[in-house]
This record gives sequence, C-alpha cells and structure tokens, in this order.
Amino acid sequence: MKEWNSFDTITKGKGMWLIDSKGNKMLDGVASMWCNVWGHSNPELVKAITNQSKKLQHSSMFNLTNEPAERLAESLVKISPGMHRVFYSDNGSTAMEIAIKLALQYWKNIGEKKKTEIATLKNGYHGDTFGAMSVGFVTEFFSKFKKQLFPTIQFSVPNKYRIPKGFTFLDYQNYCLEKIEKKISKNNNIAAFVMESGAQVAGGVMIYPKGFQKKISQICKKYDVLFVLDEIATGFGRLGFMIQYEEQKSIPDIVAYGKMLTGGYLTMAATLTNKKIYDSYLGEFNDWKHLFHGHTYTGNPIAAAVANENLKMYKKNNLIKKIQKTSKIFEKFYQEISEINIVGDVRHKGMLMGIELVTNKKKKTPIHPKKSINKIFFEEGKKNGIYLRTLGNIVMLVPPLAISEKELDLLVNRTIKTIQTAKSKVV
Ligand SMILES: Cc1ncc(COP(=O)(O)O)c(C=O)c1O
Repeated sequence: MKEWNSFDTITKGKGMWLIDSKGNKMLDGVASMWCNVWGHSNPELVKAITNQSKKLQHSSMFNLTNEPAERLAESLVKISPGMHRVFYSDNGSTAMEIAIKLALQYWKNIGEKKKTEIATLKNGYHGDTFGAMSVGFVTEFFSKFKKQLFPTIQFSVPNKYRIPKGFTFLDYQNYCLEKIEKKISKNNNIAAFVMESGAQVAGGVMIYPKGFQKKISQICKKYDVLFVLDEIATGFGRLGFMIQYEEQKSIPDIVAYGKMLTGGYLTMAATLTNKKIYDSYLGEFNDWKHLFHGHTYTGNPIAAAVANENLKMYKKNNLIKKIQKTSKIFEKFYQEISEINIVGDVRHKGMLMGIELVTNKKKKTPIHPKKSINKIFFEEGKKNGIYLRTLGNIVMLVPPLAISEKELDLLVNRTIKTIQTAKSKVV
C-alpha cells in the first residue's frame, strides 16, 4: 500500500477503453479482472439491466425464485453437458466454496462417512475465501494463512518451460499422471479432485497439455472420486471454447462459472451439478440432507437478466468463432515477444496470454525486483495507453473477449513497447 499514494479514478468505460477523471484513455488489457466480454457500456447489456431494474431489483431465493434466474439456470444446464441443476452465488470464490461443500456433503448424504479429503493441483487458484484458498495455493497470496487452511493432497502440473532434468515433456506429463493415479488408487478417503479447467490462470498461465485433464477425469471415475472443475476464468470463451471441459473431453460432477457469466457487468456466479449429486440432496426434512448455504444476493434478478442477455449475444454474434479468429493475432507476435531479452516463455490459448519474465534466459531465473513488477508495468502501460496487470513475474494479457483484431493488435504492440521500456526498471 505504501507504494501507491493515489489511484486513478475511472469515470467511464466505452468499448474496450477505460477513461479516467482527467480524460486519459486506457485499453482494457485485463478485461476488468478477466470478466469483460463485450467491452464497456454495451447498449444491449445496459438495456437488460435497466429493464429488469424497473421490474424487480432483488428478491430472496429462500423459499422463492424469480423469472430471470430460472431462465438463466435452464440456459446454463442446456449448454453444460452432463449438468442438471444450478446453485447461484455472487462471486467466483463463493461458487467454489459451494462446489467444495456440495462435494463433501454428497458423500455424507449417501452414507460414506470416510470420504473427506480433497485432491488438487499445486499452484491452483480458486478464490480468496478460506475454502477456496485451501484447495488452491499460490504462495505469494496465501502463505500468511497457511496454518488456517485445511489440508489437501496436491499434485504437480507439467510445466513445459520447466521440465525436470532427464525427462521429455511427454515423459514428464505421464510421470505426473502416474503419480496422481498411484496416490488416488491407494486412498479411499478422497471425496473430490478440484482443479481449474483447461489452464491455471492466476498460478502463472499454465496451459495443460492435451489429454492431461481428460486423464484426471478418468482416474476420478475409476476410483470413485468426484471431479470438480473451476471454469470461472477459463470457460465462456476465454480459452477459445464456450465450455472448456467439453474441449478437454472431461465431464465433471460439479462445475463453477463466474466472471464472464454476466458479460462482466454485475456480480454473479453459478455452481452446477450433475443429477447424481443433486439427487443425493433429496430427502425428507428430518433426513437433513439439504445444503445449508445461501447468500443474500443469490440469484439476483438484475444480474440474472444481464447474464441472459449476455448468453443471447454469444449466440447472436457467434462469439466463440470470432474469438478463435481474433486470438490468432497473438500468434503473430510470438517471435517478437520471445526475442526480448527478459522474456523467458510465452504461453497462449484463446484470449489469454502469459509472458514470463526472467533475468537470465538460459537459467530461466524468474525476475524478483525490489519494487513491485505490477506497479512498474501498470505505470509504463498507462504511458502507452494500456491497462496492464502482472501476476508475479508474468505479464498477463486477458482482453475483453469481443475485442477487434485491430484493438488486439494495438494491445499486443503496446505491451511489447511497455516490456521494452519497463525492462531497465525491473531487472
Ligand atoms: C480460476 C478462478 N477461480 C475462482 C476465482 C475467484 O473469483 P472471484 O474473484 O469472483 O471471487 C478466480 C478469480 O480470479 C479464478 O481465476
């Protein structure tokens, strides 16, 4: 906090641009924390909010329901293979808390008292609440709370840039999967395997190799472990597909959506389950099989209305196809970015790019400056008219999904310029 004596006040958003109180414009390179889809002030989304806010602003989901939330649940189930019911909450962290609770209580509901442990991947990120922190673990974020987090069984993700000596990448991938299977096959107490779908984002843009997620889902099935996916950052087109688990050929028992669900306009998240999980919660009142979980704004009708409009727009504008085409712009810059002397690795999939900064390309030494890399890049980016955020030594490019080819070209070009000018300040 001491490094920041003031923050720019954003007063307006128009298209892919953020405008501050002094009239300065910044291209939104992080989709306002990875959630913006259509850019800012989109008339159709604004209209959906306005119309709904005139009818019903909020009404509890305890004992009641509302039309936009019901309609949204139907649409979500329709686009999510294998899913049956929806549990709403208001942000990604709570959606993951619900996913964890649903999975743990499932086993209790069916009388399996021993299944209480959770397996996860190292360096995952599922949010900042205690349950979500426990199933993830990004050291920089969570180490202060380590004692209070519940224990999990953590497995490595094969990182193509840092393969241990003596392995090919394929060998290493198989080695990681064998370790997972070995441990899971010997432990009957594992209730669920929780992981991000398609890639770990906050944990450093680690894109899974082909078949990795599918194999984990098969292991889970084989040893009767629930497979829980977090698509909060990676679903809805971020990695180039509407439903990331479909691309990964790995149908989960539980999946969480957030961020882009409302186009990035209002706060809402959803946890979906298959019929098996849902049915385990059906019982007589005295069976106490229901999930004691609910938030004040669960199923908020305005958020649901904007989410409904957002989903309609995905279809109408053929957004997924557009993303697949536009995101090719990233590839055009691969070589140029890789050649910068502080860039160690460039990782990309769909509308997500991570640029890993190192002090020594050969030794792959991550940059560890005295000052925050994030602050330096934010300030240098601002001078170039772009809004950038780094995570550790990774420069993240996570633009609004409907960004045009021209604007994405501009964003990547200006990011390269920013890395060039920030270089001397971070090394
Ligand atoms: C994969 C993943 N899961 C969960 C979350 C938490 O979402 P929220 O910030 O809405 O609580 C995030 C946020 O970045 C995320 O990237």
